[in-house]
Amino acid sequence: MSTQTKINRKTILDIKRMKTQGEKITVLTAYDYGMAAILDESDIDILLVGDSLGNVILGYDTTLPVTMEDMLHHTKAVARGSHKAMIVADMPFLSYQVSIESALANAGRFLKEADAQAVKLEGGREHAEIVQKMTRAGIPVMAHLGLTPQSVHQLGGYKVQGKKEDAAEKMMQDAVILEEAGAFSLVLECVPEKLAAEITGALSIPTIGIGAGIHCDGQVLVVNDMLGMNDRMTPKFVKKYANLSHEIRNAVKHYIQDVKTSAFPDAEHSFK
Ligand code: KIV
Repeated sequence: MSTQTKINRKTILDIKRMKTQGEKITVLTAYDYGMAAILDESDIDILLVGDSLGNVILGYDTTLPVTMEDMLHHTKAVARGSHKAMIVADMPFLSYQVSIESALANAGRFLKEADAQAVKLEGGREHAEIVQKMTRAGIPVMAHLGLTPQSVHQLGGYKVQGKKEDAAEKMMQDAVILEEAGAFSLVLECVPEKLAAEITGALSIPTIGIGAGIHCDGQVLVVNDMLGMNDRMTPKFVKKYANLSHEIRNAVKHYIQDVKTSAFPDAEHSFK
């Protein structure tokens, strides 16, 4: 019997190789089966089940109320809908900050119960030991620096991070510490383009930017934002590739009109 298990999904080795080969890494968030299937068929490299689901799916103002059960539920759906992309699950607020033991146990649940291949967690050197322990336990970790939304109250709002020299220096040090701790990649959110370029150049693991300029090794966006699925204020770094909320409203208006005027269902959509 072969000792090699076939893994059809992209792995951390593929993702790291893309950096060395200069191939940009594409990441989008996904929260459900149907969207995961569409993104997977489109050949996205990584599906991130972000805790941004708190904002875009569950309607909270921040990501803070998102629970482990919410994240597991949505990660399972994304895993069922995809079979090629790597799946990274976001660790929600207080699922890794309380103790190393609970952090490890919670991270492990994403791999054991929800078919994720890696977890993401926000923060710098203060989480280096957790990153190291998870990595040693066989749980790949995507780190996340810059604007870390779970710390919105500590940061005093959703602002660009690392603008001052000392903050930039600290972010660079954090990035190096997280790489040394074993992180396989690093999200940089709302970071000046120049600093993101310097961090990208200093690390051997790939950086994934969101509002961090063109020099990162890959890019991530919240799928609902880039598809224009909501009318809420979108940050400057979001490029809208579609206006689905407009399309959906038009379709629904058309449907309502058809039903009210008995134009639907017509012969084509009825059984003889
Ligand atoms: O929760 C999320 O969607 C994220 C990305 C925006 C990086 O953390």
